[in-house]
Parts: sequence; structure tokens; C-alpha cells
Amino acid sequence: MGIIIEDRLYYVHAKGLSMILENRDGDLLLKHLGKSIKKYNFSNTIFEKDHAFSATQNPDDRTYSYDTQRQAFGVHGFGDFRHPSIKIEHDNNELTHFKIKESQILDYEVDAKGLPNPHSREETETLLLILEDEVSELELRIYYTAYEDSPTISTFTSLVNKSNQEVVIHRDLSAMFDMPASSYDIISLQGAYAREKTLRRRKVDQGMFSVFSNRGASGHSQTPAIILAETLANEDYGEAWALQLMYSGNFQANVEKSQLNEVRMSIGIADDNFSWRLKPGESFDTPVALLTYSDKGLTKLSQESQSFVQNHIMAKNFAYEKRPILINNWEATYFDFDKEKLSSLTDEASKLGIELFVLDDGWFGNRFDDNRALGDWQVNEEKIGCKLSELISDVHKKGMKFGLWVEPEMISVDSDLYRKHPDWAIQAPKRGHSYSRNQLVLNLANPEVVAYLKEILDDLLSNHDIDYIKWDYNRNITNIGNGKDYLETMEQSHKYMLGFYDLVKYLTEKHSDVLFESCSGGGGRNDLGVMRYFPQVWASDNTDAISRLPIQYGSTFLYPTISMGAHVSASPNHQMKRVTPLKTRGHVAMMGNFGYELDLSKLSEEEKNEIKEQVNLYKEIRPIIQFGRQYRLINPVEETNEVAVEFVKDDRILVTYVRKLSTIEEIETTLKLKGLEEESIYRLHGTNKVYSGAELMYAGLTIVMNGGDFLSKQYYFTKIEA
Ligand code: DGJ
Repeated sequence: MGIIIEDRLYYVHAKGLSMILENRDGDLLLKHLGKSIKKYNFSNTIFEKDHAFSATQNPDDRTYSYDTQRQAFGVHGFGDFRHPSIKIEHDNNELTHFKIKESQILDYEVDAKGLPNPHSREETETLLLILEDEVSELELRIYYTAYEDSPTISTFTSLVNKSNQEVVIHRDLSAMFDMPASSYDIISLQGAYAREKTLRRRKVDQGMFSVFSNRGASGHSQTPAIILAETLANEDYGEAWALQLMYSGNFQANVEKSQLNEVRMSIGIADDNFSWRLKPGESFDTPVALLTYSDKGLTKLSQESQSFVQNHIMAKNFAYEKRPILINNWEATYFDFDKEKLSSLTDEASKLGIELFVLDDGWFGNRFDDNRALGDWQVNEEKIGCKLSELISDVHKKGMKFGLWVEPEMISVDSDLYRKHPDWAIQAPKRGHSYSRNQLVLNLANPEVVAYLKEILDDLLSNHDIDYIKWDYNRNITNIGNGKDYLETMEQSHKYMLGFYDLVKYLTEKHSDVLFESCSGGGGRNDLGVMRYFPQVWASDNTDAISRLPIQYGSTFLYPTISMGAHVSASPNHQMKRVTPLKTRGHVAMMGNFGYELDLSKLSEEEKNEIKEQVNLYKEIRPIIQFGRQYRLINPVEETNEVAVEFVKDDRILVTYVRKLSTIEEIETTLKLKGLEEESIYRLHGTNKVYSGAELMYAGLTIVMNGGDFLSKQYYFTKIEA
């Protein structure tokens, strides 16, 4: 475990994962990234032959070319014709030839400055490689941290300008890994607004495949992550590597199969809207990238990624803290609420055992619709019929926690804030504005704006007994032009992210007992950078149970269930107009961080009783879902009519099965459970039926559904003996 430097090899050993790097006359080569190897004897010959049109540096050796070597960073412009990880403008060119100058083993944490970093690395070791490009006098410091409790390596780089002239960074990726020639698939989590995180699996073929965002946020339609998997890999078999970025802004994640069938994976800040001026003596840190490995298929990869997020990314005080069942008034009232409506909703919610009430958009300023008032964070006491503190204490008296919606990064043109500070919005001279939801984005690259938001939000949280914040972000960034010159404008997008992280770090550390949930019209900024400060993310504005299946399923590939907000909403559903049984809506939302978002006063007594039962059940099974291991049994993207997911925690198992459309014949579905003890006996709740673990895993559960669309079943087992 940890880091070993032996002759010209660097071993980075995490739990069940080894990365082996070679120092070949100063060049940084990647020999292995996969299952643990304790001793490497160069059995794995690197491609070395005289390859036509591949340049070499040494006229006496035509077999060694950067184009044919597997690298881990940084030689650019000397015959490696693949996508370079670094591009720096200096001396009228962008050539860089970084050579290893020094290596160190560090037993302390090194953080990427101003960016989200994993925590709890006290017992980890870090390999620091210091490379130098003599001509440009730039230093590239690469950090690789290996984790004892996870097959994960985290990495970032720091570029230091040691010259006496300014250089300009045009690309500086966080990580790059050249993988051996083989047959791979690439898995990404993509989609759009209201259908986020849908699984896409494609064959890696010669050429370049890129997932990227230039929206100023990671976005609904892509996730800053790629999974490279052996073509034959499935849930239980095969090698797979997940490469993720702890960053919430513009990113690129690339997979490139070269002319020699080797595969380069890389991830980092996107090229669009990015350049960075590096003055003499300054340094630039990239966002942190994470590489997680599985030798046993995608289930193991997901479980390891999910545990890593819980153990090293989420705030420690929330990672293993059971999350409250909430009711949010958005789909119950939208902007149309008053004291009576809120009071009736909170009365009903508290009777049903709901634990947290969230007051959504519309409680401040002149905010009666989504055209105005963002930025005017004064409580509209006339609308809510009392002071905010009175509303909060009323909710507390009803036995629930209190949560509040905010959207601090935005400004409406029709707002007092805009009338006072029109220059605070992101905009370009002479170009007017581009509107989205009729709002503009505040320029968080401006420290004055960040300081203002810190003060406003700190006051709100310090003066009110708020337990939870829903932090929304409802548009993407356009019209970037606030810089004093071209380069300063090109720096704005990354500076925005540094301002955002500064703001949320300050607030979440100062108000560390407040649970923050991130939202961006649902999952428009659902990434590991956000999760460092927001232990929950609202997965999608699409609350329809059937549409939620692929969204929630996709999220499980990398993110823990505890991070994923999932609510029962009205039927017909407001987005899809689909009618689904309350039971199915409950079962689907229970596969996430459970809550409600509907007008309880419109429900029948029978429905309210059903909700009460759902709430009680979720309280009982919550640890299985929020802290258990997860197994995907039926994939709703490939098997389009069904989905099944299993959670296992200690002695308890929960299986959820949903069938979308009725079939003419009664078709049996066999669900072979996973992760149980063969010899143990499990009892199915609500029955006297008992099964051995072996029976459930190898013979399976046989499911037969009645006719009807959008039906579901939940199976809850407890181990009764070994
Ligand atoms: C978009 C969010 O995703 C919704 O849940 C709701 O909070 C609205 N914004 C409020 O404007």
C-alpha cells in the first residue's frame, strides 16, 4: 500500500489498484494502471519500433517515439500526435518538453488551491513528481494520492512559472492515462434537462470521443466522468476504470483510440472559454481528478465510487447521517402560496410523519413569478404572512425541520440589486443580454460579488434557525465579456468557479450543521465538485416515477444514493402528465433520498394513509438505502420495460422491481439477488416465507405481475439465522 520508488519505477498502490510509472531518461511513461502488481519487471514490453511518420528525438534510435509510448502527461509538440494534455503559449510557440527532475513521497495532504479536494487523506501517501521544461522554465508538479480504503488514486497538477516572462495556459488537463491496446467500451452519463444521467455505452473506436461542457456548469446533458470498460465487462465481470473530475464548471473528458489501438483517457477543464495568464512566480492548480478501478465489473466499480464519495468527498458530519424525509412546496403551490396554504401543508405533513418542510421559490422580494426579483433576498413578510423566524418556529413546533430555497448566483434585470449594480451581471460590452428564464448570472469572478453574497447569506443563516438550504442555479452562462482584455475574459469561467467554491466553502463551513442540497433545474450541476459542499443533489425536475428510472439508475454508476433527492409528486405528473399509482411513485422515490412534492390537501384519506405507511416504512429501511451496498439487477436502458435494484445493509435486503407497461401474456421475471450469505436464512417481511441466501441468489425470486401499467413491487428481507 502507498508509494514506492524503486530505481526508475514509481509504484502508486491503492487498495486493489496499482499504477506503475517509469522514469525513462526523464520521460514519464505509464507502465500499468490496473490490478495490484507488487513487482514489475518490464515483462509488459512497450511498443518500440521504427514507426513511419512518428518523430524521434535521437537520430541513433529510431524506435523510441512519444507517438508510440504510453504516457501520463505533458510532452507536447515533439511527435506525439494524440490529444495533448497541456498547451502553453510562450516564446511564440506552445511546445513543452517536461522531464522529471525530482520525485518525493509525501505523507501529508496537498490541496489543489481554491478547489474542492477529497478529505480524510491523513493515512494516505502522495507521490509528487516535479517535471521541468528547461526552455520555457516551467515546472509541472504532479500529485498522485493513493487511498488505503479504496481502489482510487486522486491527482492534480500545479504549473509553476519559474521564468521571468508571462506565459499563457490554453489547456492544462488534470489527468491523462494512456491505456494498452485492447477492445474497450466507453460509458458516459448523459441526457438533457429533465432526463439527466442516462447511461450511454459505446465501443471505443479509432478517433476521439469527448464528453464536454461549455455551459459554465457541468450541465444536465453530461457528467464530468467517463468509465472505460473492457468490451466484455458487465455488472459482475471485467476490468473497468472510472475517471472523474471534482469540478462543476466547463470540462472535457476524452477517450482517444490511436492508430496503434492504444487508448488515451484524459479529463480536465474544457478548452472553450479558457486561457490563463501565468506571470513569473505564479502557479496554476488544476481541479482534482479521481481514477477508480474495478477488476470485477461495473457493480464493484460503482460501489467503490459511491463509498469514495461518502468517505472522502461528502462533509464528514453528513456522509453517514440519515437524511430527513422532506416535503417541498414547489409542485404543491409553485409561486402561489400564502400563510394559510403553507400552514395547511405543514399541518398535514407533520401528521404524516414528514421530517423537514422546504419553502421553495417565491418567499422574497417581489418574486411572484420567475421574471423578477432574483437578488432581492429580503423576506416578503406580506406574502408569507409573518416574519420568517415566526414561520420557522411554527414549523419547528410542528415537529419538523425547516428548509429554504435560494438562488444566490443569479440576478433578475427587474430587481433592486440590478438597479444598483448592473455591472455585477456577466455580460459583454455592446452586446446586450441573453436571457434564460429571464435571468442573468452574477459575475462570481468578481470578488466584490462573492463578498456581498457571503454577507447576505451568512446573515440569513445566522439570524434564522434554518436547518436546510436548497441552492438552485437555473441558467447557463453566456455573453462572457467582463474582462478588461481578451485574456482576462478567457479567465472568467474558471475564476467564476473559484468564486463559487470560495462562497460555498465559507458558508458550509461556517454553518456546518445546515444540510445543503444543490439543484440546477434538477441535475444541471450534479457532480463531485458540488458534492464536496452539498451532501444532497436534486436529481431532476422530472418527478414522474417512470421517467425517473433511467435518471436514478444512471446516477448509481458513480454517486451514492444518499446524494440523490427523489420525491413523490402528484398524478397526473406535472411534467409528463402520466398517471401512476401512488405505490409505484413511493417505491421509485424510496430508491433515493426520499421526500414529497405535492399538495397534500388535495389527497383522499386513503392516499394520506398510504403516505403515512410509506413514511413509516422509509424510516425503517432508510439505513439500507442510504448506507447499504447497491446492486443493479435489471437495466432500464437496455431492458426497456423493467428495472430492478437491490440494496443490502448488514442483515437486511430491499429489492425494488418496476414494470412499465403491461404485457399480454403473464411473463415471469427471475431476479437473482446478489451479495447475500449462501447459508443464511432470510424472511420476507409481511409473510412467513423464508429463503436461504443461496436460493435467492442462484434460483432467484420469481416475479409475476398483474395486468396494468406502471406497477411495482418491493421485497424487504431480514436475515433470521446463519
Ligand atoms: C428549479 C428547481 O429545479 C425546482 O425544483 C424549483 O426549485 C424551481 N427551480 C424554483 O424556481
